[in-house]
Amino acid sequence: MNSYIFSINNSLINILTGKKNNRYNRHLSLTTIVFILSALSQVAVANKMPESYGQCIACHGDKAQGNAQLNSPSLAGKSASYITRQLHNFANGLRGSHNKDTLGMQMVAISKQLNFNKDVPELSAYLAALPAISQVQNTTGDLKNGSRYYQGKCGACHGGQAQGNEIMNAPKLSGQSVEYLKRQMLNFTQGIRGTHPEDKFGRQMAMMAKTTSGQELEDILHYIANQE
Ligand code: HEC
Ligand code: HEC
Repeated sequence: MNSYIFSINNSLINILTGKKNNRYNRHLSLTTIVFILSALSQVAVANKMPESYGQCIACHGDKAQGNAQLNSPSLAGKSASYITRQLHNFANGLRGSHNKDTLGMQMVAISKQLNFNKDVPELSAYLAALPAISQVQNTTGDLKNGSRYYQGKCGACHGGQAQGNEIMNAPKLSGQSVEYLKRQMLNFTQGIRGTHPEDKFGRQMAMMAKTTSGQELEDILHYIANQE
């Protein structure tokens, strides 16, 4: 036992001092290092896709990156609490039940058949842990004005770089498709989203959405599109 510990100690000292004269000890240390590295990499891939995500891939993509052609937003890196709330809202008529909300409607049937004790916590944790993937954006506008308007009207809740703010229940907006964000702003201002009496956070956002429009909104979206 003592000699084993001695040999490990020795090999570590050899590695640290760059000594290469003891072949056996060097081999032992490299094995130890490879073992530690492989253990670490297993921690990194622990975010296993839940089975229930299989039915989301067709629209949201295998990395939850979203799909512009299908108008489906990116979900990767969104907070677990926000994803859970939206799935709850779709399933319970707080979102996607307005007759003009044809895209939101697509989520209603899907959300209703999810198990809220098993699937939804699994999906939310999985999606929140995925690396956010920024969309290729084609926005135009005045970045300086956009930054000013954004900080004045949105930043207090959504964060200075549109990274989201858990305490304010405001989701990350950066990296999201601007087409999607723009449609949500219109939905909020036109009463298609955020009118249900129980939709506390949607109602809050609907009030905020009504404070901007036109070129100012274009500039704000341009600013958001330019954040990581
Ligand atoms: C048929 C295509 C389709 C499928 C399948 C689908 N979605 Fe969606 N999803 C959409 C569309 C389109 C929207 C955007 C709705 C809107 O514009 O309001 C959306 C929106 C969402 C949102 C709201 C995102 C946000 O930023 O507010 C969440 C969360 C979501 N989907 C999760 C899921 C999950 C989880 C699954 C699988 C169980 C799934 N979706 C399956 C099309 C789909
Ligand atoms: C008082 C806090 C507050 C302010 C200020 C605010 N928001 Fe929000 N916003 C929220 C909350 C909370 C939600 C989540 C609503 C929900 O859960 O349905 C939200 C949701 C959104 C969404 C929907 C995101 C998605 O993934 O579907 C967009 C887009 C948005 N905000 C844009 C903006 C913009 C642009 C501004 C500035 C003009 C702004 N917000 C100002 C609190 C705020």
